[in-house]
Amino acid sequence: MKELVCTVKYNARIASGIYAMTITLPCEVQVKCGQFLNISTGNPANLLKRPFGIMRANGKNITFCYQVKGGGTAALSGAKPGERLAVTLPLGNGFDIPADAKRIAVVGGGVGIFPLLSVIEQVKDREYYSYIGFRSAEYACLTGEFAAASKSLTVVTDDGSIGQKTNAVAAFLAEYCRIKPDLIIACGPPVMLRALKTQLNERLITTPCLVSLEERMGCGIGACLVCVCKKSDGSNARVCKDGPVFDIDEVDL
Ligand SMILES: Cc1cc2nc3c(=O)[nH]c(=O)nc-3n(C[C@H](O)[C@H](O)[C@H](O)COP(=O)(O)OP(=O)(O)OC[C@H]3O[C@@H](n4cnc5c(N)ncnc54)[C@H](O)[C@@H]3O)c2cc1C
Ligand code: FES
Repeated sequence: MKELVCTVKYNARIASGIYAMTITLPCEVQVKCGQFLNISTGNPANLLKRPFGIMRANGKNITFCYQVKGGGTAALSGAKPGERLAVTLPLGNGFDIPADAKRIAVVGGGVGIFPLLSVIEQVKDREYYSYIGFRSAEYACLTGEFAAASKSLTVVTDDGSIGQKTNAVAAFLAEYCRIKPDLIIACGPPVMLRALKTQLNERLITTPCLVSLEERMGCGIGACLVCVCKKSDGSNARVCKDGPVFDIDEVDL
């Protein structure tokens, strides 16, 4: 983990309220897929850095995408190329993709699709069957990137404005028997991950499933306990340090 000052290289809107930012680091940093960074917003009023999944790491250039939610991300959306921001990275455990997982189902909702793209672009020689869901067409993004790196891509929306009118979990389960995945990886809003866990249990599906969680965070390095989640055995885990990637059976959703 390094604390660095980066330079904004690119920051542009890619869908309604959603931006892609590329930063340039002063040195190369090794990043594993599914790890995240903590970046200052450029507004001194936001004391805490904000966490975002690292979508691409290319030499000194790091790209992440973010949705404007509150003051911090609104400030970030105004950052101009050349602006300097403090950044801490890489953080968290990232995805450990077993070598024998050849057929991988990718289930993502909303901003949860960004860390999943880091897996399918980084871990090659696998067959990815991707199911990504958005509220509506205006929030849809990166479908070309997913299509390029996946064996098949299903895009769905809550209102049917593009793709089927359904959610990513339902779209995946409808094709489960056809694709027979060795592994499922998922990231999305809590309601989506909860539905995935319930449905897998109800259908007695035992395929290993890794989920990336997005809790509210403070320090991002395991010290403040703001991000604690409950584990299935009753103990606690820090999403920033012990996660954000967990086995779906390991955590209470
Ligand atoms: C490991 C990790 C990876 C993440 N990756 C991404 C990503 O790739 N792209 C992306 O758009 N967002 C991502 N998030 C969520 C992102 O960090 C928050 O949306 C952001 O910090 C909000 O900052 P803000 O100052 O704009 O909002 P605030 O003013 O702090 O809050 C505005 C609203 O957003 C909610 N919120 C704040 N933090 C989170 C959070 N961590 N998760 C969910 N809701 C939150 C608040 O409850 C509130 O309703 C990630 C979060 C974590 C923990
Ligand atoms: S954010 Fe401080 S312990 Fe996780």
